[in-house]
Parts: sequence; structure tokens; C-alpha cells
Amino acid sequence: MEIDVFTLFPEAFAWFEGQRHVANALRLGHRLAYVNYRDHTPLSAGQVDDTPFGGGAGMVLRVDVVESALRARYGRDPTELRHERRVIALTPGGTMLDDALVDELAGERALTLLAGRYEGFDERIIEHFASDQVSIGRYVLAGGELPALVVCDAVLRKLPGALGHDESALEESFSAALGGAPEYPHYTRPAEWRGWEVPDVLVSGHHERIRQWRLEQSRARAGVAAGRAARDGEGARGGGAPGGGAGDDGPPQAPGGGAGGGETGSGTGPLP
Ligand code: ADE
Repeated sequence: MEIDVFTLFPEAFAWFEGQRHVANALRLGHRLAYVNYRDHTPLSAGQVDDTPFGGGAGMVLRVDVVESALRARYGRDPTELRHERRVIALTPGGTMLDDALVDELAGERALTLLAGRYEGFDERIIEHFASDQVSIGRYVLAGGELPALVVCDAVLRKLPGALGHDESALEESFSAALGGAPEYPHYTRPAEWRGWEVPDVLVSGHHERIRQWRLEQSRARAGVAAGRAARDGEGARGGGAPGGGAGDDGPPQAPGGGAGGGETGSGTGPLP
């Protein structure tokens, strides 16, 4: 897999490449590259953003700057690019990242991640260049770098060989192997600490009973999580960002995605 991250702060990713699963993935031939918008701006003095039309706070990443950076990287009109690879704009209102979406992205040959800054993107970037918008949560960060890191981390650790022993990515929280439920609890030595004991079954050596116990624990946690979500009035995974209707050359249907905002599927459908 090759992942290109478009950002104003490529240095934010330096430590990340030292993480074991990332280093493993890179050693296996996967690729992470960064494009700094500022290196490709057609404007003077490295300008990349501007004040919003209509007034308001903050600065908006310019469409001409993003087009120039995409053209420099891929050598073609960026409106065509999203038909060939997922071009993901990281936005707080995008499709919520979850395990199913991570699995879907990990199955792609190539990803382009667009990190915004300041007030975000000129909407035309999302309308005309992006195939998807992805959010890591319903809160606003100062930029798309942390969300891009989250996407890269979650996707790269799914790639065969990245974790060193592949089983650990199979049976983990929210995976299909656990029916989408949170993972069961783990314990390690010491078997007793301050009177807190490890459940007997885990030290019984009885593999089938351990498997059953873990499934039960996982299901019980799913029940607790569902109860919490119901109490909090949560449960629905949100779809695309407010505003930003697709233009005439609107984005293609993302592979494998239903319409954003549903409770089923990974919700990586067309932008709203
Ligand atoms: N950019 C700013 N906040 C974000 C979020 N929560 N998810 C994705 N991108 C963002």
C-alpha cells in the first residue's frame, strides 16, 4: 500500500515512522510519503490559505494551492484522481472512522490523505478533488495531522506482517472475529497483586474454556457499551459533513461504501 499525506506539517509524522508496526510495514515494501502544500503553492511568500468569503474567523486552505500540490504529485487533473485512488479529506463532519472502514481502507492499493488546517478546506477541494471525507470523532482539532496519523496507524497495523504476529489484529476490539464487540480483558504476571487475582480460567490451561470465557466477556462488554450509548443518546454513526453538496463532477461512489450516516456498512458513500 502507498499512502500520501498532504500537509503543512510533514515533520509531525517523523516519530510515527519509528513505531514498530509502521517500521515493519515500511520494511515490507509499503510506502508513506508526505507532500507539503507550501512547497507547491503558486502564490508568493508561501501563502496557502486565505480569509473566508462572507467574513468570519480563521483561514481557509485554498483550492488553487491544493490543486497545485496534487498536480505536482500525480501529474494530472486532480478531478480525475479520485476515480483511481481514495482521496480522503480529513474533516470533523466526515464519515466516522471505525474498524470496518479501516479494514476497507487497508484493502486499497493507495490512499491520499488531505490534512486541513485553520478553519479547514475551501469547499471546492472537497467537492471536486476528494472521494471521501473521514472524521476521527465529533470534535474539532486544529488540523488534519492527528486524524491523518490515526488513519495511518489504524490502517498500517492491519497489513499482514505489520504487527509481527498477525493474530493480534484479527481478534481485537470491534473486529469481525468478535462480532464487532469490544475485546475481552487481558491479564499478565503477576497472577496476584494486592489481592487482585487473575480469573482462574485463564490459568487453567483449558483452551476451549478460555475461548468461551473470552467470548462471554466480549459480549458482556458489548452489552455495557450498548447500554452506555443508549443512555448517552448515541449509536448512530454520522455521515458526511454539513454543507458541501457534490458538483456536476461530484465524487464517485466509494468502493464498498453505503450512504454515509447509516448504522450498517462502513458509510463511505458519496459525499452529501
Ligand atoms: N480536522 C479537524 N478535526 C477533525 C476531526 N475530528 N476528524 C478529522 N479531521 C479533522
